[in-house]
Amino acid sequence: MTQVTASAPGKFVILGEHAVVYGKPAIALAIDRRFTVRVSPGPEFRINGEPADINANPHIKHVSSLYDMRPVSLHTESRIPPGAGLGSSAALSVAFSGAMRRLHGLAVEPESVAAEAFDAEYAAQGRGSPMDTSACTHGYGVALNMRGCDRPLWSLEKGGNRWDVHDIDVPAMTFVIGHTGIRAATGPLVEKVRKFRERNRFASDIVDEIGDVTLEGMTALRTDDRVRLGELMTYDHKLLSILGVSCKELNKLVDASLPHAYGAKLTGSGGGGCMIALTDAPDRVAEAIRSRGGMPYTVSTRVEGLTVGR
Ligand code: PMV
Repeated sequence: MTQVTASAPGKFVILGEHAVVYGKPAIALAIDRRFTVRVSPGPEFRINGEPADINANPHIKHVSSLYDMRPVSLHTESRIPPGAGLGSSAALSVAFSGAMRRLHGLAVEPESVAAEAFDAEYAAQGRGSPMDTSACTHGYGVALNMRGCDRPLWSLEKGGNRWDVHDIDVPAMTFVIGHTGIRAATGPLVEKVRKFRERNRFASDIVDEIGDVTLEGMTALRTDDRVRLGELMTYDHKLLSILGVSCKELNKLVDASLPHAYGAKLTGSGGGGCMIALTDAPDRVAEAIRSRGGMPYTVSTRVEGLTVGR
C-alpha cells in the first residue's frame, strides 16, 4: 500500500475537567469536526507539499520515531480549530498513528493507537492525561476514573499515574462551542487549582463536588435526560469558577447562551479557550455567542472515532 488516509474527530470535555487530576471521573465527547491525514512514503518529510522540519512538529516526530524515522509525505486537512482545547493535536496524533500502522502492515488496534498517540502528546507537552487521545481514537464518548463502569476500553500508565478508560453511552446531541479567542496554557491553570486545593479545605470540597456532578452527569447521559445534564453542566461551571479557572470572557459567553440552552459551561482547562452549550436552538445560541464577541461552532455528538483507509 503506497498511500493511506486516516481521520479522527476532535473532542470536548463535558464534565470533570480539573477534578480528574485528583482521580475524580471525567467525561469527554467526540465531535463531528475531524482531522484527516493522507500519508505516503517519500524520500523526505513533507507536509502539504513543502519540505518539513520534523523537529518543529513534535507529534509527527514522536510517532515517526516508532517507525525508525522513515520519511513520509503528509497531506493534512482539519476542521478542528487549533489551540482551543478541542483536541486538534490529539486528533492529528491519532490519525497519523493509525495511518502509519496501516502503512507498515500493522493491525490498527484502537488500544495501540490510543497508546501511541498519548505517548506523542505526552512527549510534546510534557504532561497530560490520555483523555483527549482516547476520545479521538474511540469516538462517541469516554470516561476516565469512572468506578463501576462496566465497559472498559483500555488502561494507560505514565509518570506513576494510571488511567482506566471506559466507553460510555452518548446520545446524538447538539452543542454550540463558543471560542473566546484567548489562548490559555493548561499547565498554569492546573497549578493554580493545585495550590488553592493545598491551602484551602474548601477548594478540595469543590473538587469532590465536581466528581459527584460528573457521576450524576453519567446517569443523565445514559438516560438521555438533557434537562438534568444541562443543569449539571451549568452547576459545574459555577464550581469551576469558584476554583478560579473561568474568566470574564467565558462567563459572558456562558451567560449569553443560557436563555437558549439546557446548560452551559467552560470546557477544558479554562482561563480562555472554549465554552459549550447544550441546546435545541443552535442558531440562537450561536448568535448570542457571536454578539458577545465569541466564535461559535455548532457540533454534534455520537460520532465515529478513528477511521483508516477509507
Ligand atoms: O484543555 P484540555 O481539553 O486539554 O483539558 C484539560 C483538562 C484538565 O483536567 C484541566 C487537565 C488534564 O490534564 O486533565
